[in-house]
Amino acid sequence: MKPDLPVWRSLLYVPVNVEKYVGKAHLRGADCIQLDLEDSVPAAQKDEARRLVPAAAARVRRGGADVVVRINSPLEMACKDLEFCVDENVEGVAVTKTQDPSYIQKIDKMVGELEARRGLRPGRTRLIAMIETPAAFFQMPAIALASARLAAMNIGGEDFALENGMEPTEETLLMPKQQMIFAARAAGLMPLGFIASVAAFGDREAFARMVRRSRQFGFMGAGCIHPDQVPVVNREYSPSAEEAAYARRVIEENARAEAAGRASFAIDGKMIDVPVVERARRLLARLAAIGAREEKKRAVSV
Ligand code: COA
Ligand code: MG
Repeated sequence: MKPDLPVWRSLLYVPVNVEKYVGKAHLRGADCIQLDLEDSVPAAQKDEARRLVPAAAARVRRGGADVVVRINSPLEMACKDLEFCVDENVEGVAVTKTQDPSYIQKIDKMVGELEARRGLRPGRTRLIAMIETPAAFFQMPAIALASARLAAMNIGGEDFALENGMEPTEETLLMPKQQMIFAARAAGLMPLGFIASVAAFGDREAFARMVRRSRQFGFMGAGCIHPDQVPVVNREYSPSAEEAAYARRVIEENARAEAAGRASFAIDGKMIDVPVVERARRLLARLAAIGAREEKKRAVSV
């Protein structure tokens, strides 16, 4: 993983033109608010919507969340959006309909120019590459390496299914999403999303089960369309107390084994060696990063 990645377990989609959503977004507990300029904003309102971004970004981050703006495609539209998105209150831009590595490089260049013009720290604006077409699917490994700004990658399930003439079911999306995870990880990026589509948010228990299963595949965070999803996603995309306790035990017993000249040993009838110890270390590092994110949210909410 790249060393400086943020903790974005839950990225709550907020259509920037819907004032009642923007107004309370900071109270929903999301790690990141994803202001949307794309599919949840009607075409006739795009010009007006992008002008709302700077003020909305300042408001939705009051609860300690980061802010990402989901921009439109193609490049002409993206360019207009970026003018309002490269901002001191925006940590990232989600690039819809990423076509190939050169598309990301063009966005990277525009963002860099805007950062320079506005006196923002070079590179502060991160990118999320959204894979939504079959052509982009076959270029995922190169896309993931296209810019140092890239922090994450995901597959826009509904659009991807549409472009492939398939239904967006868990079964049909599993293969492409799993390949996306490998492409993202190979470049040190966070894979975002769920194993199934996010559109069905009615059944809470089923949703929690689906998110738990998604983490087993390696997803680190996901877009939420409804505030009710946020606490579930924050919980399920965090190590559980049991997992943390077990990881601590692995580290302790490993230190003891090392002192005795051993790199492999057993806990409760299970073999522990290097990758298991490393997984335990990473789990505890992730837990610490999540703790810092939660602390930041608590600090501003009092
Ligand atoms: N962001 C912030 N607040 C939201 C929200 C969102 N995405 N979705 C709902 N809310 C708020 C409502 O304003 C309401 O607040 P209140 O009770 O404090 O007044 C509360 O959450 C409950 O809303 P509810 O009535 O259950 O939802 P709904 O039926 O009005 O809307 C959706 C359901 C799916 C239409 C709506 O959640 C939505 O538009 N989500 C965003 C979709 C999106 O961005 N899609 C693009 C990315 S895939
Ligand atoms: Mg879309």
